[in-house]
Amino acid sequence: MRIRVYNGPNLALLGKREPGIYGTETLAGIEARLAARAASLGVAVECFQSDIEGELVRAIGSATGTADGLILNAAAYTHTSVAIRDAIAATGLPCIEVHLSNIYRRETFRHQSLTAPVCLGVISGLGAQGYELALEALVRHLRTARSQ
Ligand code: DQA
Repeated sequence: MRIRVYNGPNLALLGKREPGIYGTETLAGIEARLAARAASLGVAVECFQSDIEGELVRAIGSATGTADGLILNAAAYTHTSVAIRDAIAATGLPCIEVHLSNIYRRETFRHQSLTAPVCLGVISGLGAQGYELALEALVRHLRTARSQ
């Protein structure tokens, strides 16, 4: 089972970026823990980060036929990008949206997610552990779907 993890703009700054909101863990640290959790679940994860919308669209498109499920933190593009939403929908793959912060407790412009309607579910506000929870939920979903 192959899982792709996509992180959007400014998430490479995690650790230094507004730690009161996003915590002190770096993206490399989050990805390393995710890889360890994936190994214990017996699945493979591949992580991609870009600040550039078109690069994210291309990378999401490349998941078709090469991945079984997706985890997405599109960061600010969550609230603006029809292109990323369409890219997720085009894969036809189950996707779980993750946000470190609880976007519904923040500014009103963050309350709308354009990507959530094409995702299986959303985890928002649980910090870095949200990625691991998303991985566990996605693997369970895929294994259940395969056994039916
Ligand atoms: C975020 C929330 C977004 O509103 C914000 O633009 C981000 C990070 C989060 O993980 O909490 O960059 O996706």
